[in-house]
Amino acid sequence: MKLKLDEQAFERPSQIQEFVQGLQSQFLPLKFAYIGSAAFTHDQLVKSPSYRLSDIESTLIRERFYTDIVTRLGLSKKSLNIIDIGSGNGLKAATVLDVLFSNQFSVRYLGLDYSQNLLKIAKENIASTLPAFGIINTEVIDFESESFSDAVLKYLPIDQYSLFVLLGHTLGNPLNRIAALTNIRKSIIDKNSSGFCVGIELFDEAKVNETLMNYQNDAFRAAVFTPLTFIGLSPEDGLLDIGFNHSTKNVEVYFEFYQGVHIDCGALGSVVYEKGDRILLFLSHRFDLDTLHRNFAETKFEIVATLLNPKANYALLFSVPV
Ligand SMILES: C[S@@+](CC[C@H](N)C(=O)[O-])C[C@H]1O[C@@H](n2cnc3c(N)ncnc32)[C@H](O)[C@@H]1O
Repeated sequence: MKLKLDEQAFERPSQIQEFVQGLQSQFLPLKFAYIGSAAFTHDQLVKSPSYRLSDIESTLIRERFYTDIVTRLGLSKKSLNIIDIGSGNGLKAATVLDVLFSNQFSVRYLGLDYSQNLLKIAKENIASTLPAFGIINTEVIDFESESFSDAVLKYLPIDQYSLFVLLGHTLGNPLNRIAALTNIRKSIIDKNSSGFCVGIELFDEAKVNETLMNYQNDAFRAAVFTPLTFIGLSPEDGLLDIGFNHSTKNVEVYFEFYQGVHIDCGALGSVVYEKGDRILLFLSHRFDLDTLHRNFAETKFEIVATLLNPKANYALLFSVPV
């Protein structure tokens, strides 16, 4: 079967190059599931009732974020910078900002994401949820490949506390989590007046089937398949295999080709798959707290608070750069 890469599906030329590299290595990083038209699919997925994880984290933010994190920062003024890494559609940040407003804080917000379209959606969602909010700054970044200290310096006052947040289990998605944490650590310039808050789902052997059920729905299948539509594939052209890899503790989604394909990538050459070849479209790691403490220590963060939901399967971790 002959296919052609649709260059119009991308937001900028550098994404096309990275996407073709991903096709060649049979691994498409999840960031491609959020670009172009996929940004709108993601916005709908987050707003759908099946996106349960989002509710667990939002509840933790509403009930514990202020008392267990913000009040312990020892701030002399009620003002903060919030740097939202991988802002997505902005609704999670809106919850954080709402909690801070309710406690009379003034906030400078910076949304950072790989997807330009999602940043636009985030601006609209925050503005409509919190009409009184002032300027919403946003910037395109790639925390998997480099630090983003320039973006932080460009928008935010350095004389007030900066709280970096990475929510929605986003840390579970990069293939190289240590590189992602290292890039984030390098982006924190004022280590004496900054903190880093991460929301993640924890590993529980007994609940693997329950975890997988969160992915067994049409909204997720459509979202995860979207990057393959950029080369003209349809879901009927192969098998979408959603499973849990016990050795890596990853939820993994592969697409397996029912027939050989030749993909014309224009000036970037071509990519060929044989029948039965598999491409990794999605991975989502499940963490245990010991590994997290080790990964954070290795990348120069110290975890100082661990907020768990009542089922103890989701954590908001607050750490400081050391
Ligand atoms: C799982 S969503 C979470 C969105 C939001 N924080 C929430 O909690 O709803 C992950 C977000 O991170 C962004 N993202 C993924 N990889 C990225 C990368 N390498 N650099 C910057 N943003 C990335 C995606 O575009 C997406 O908006």
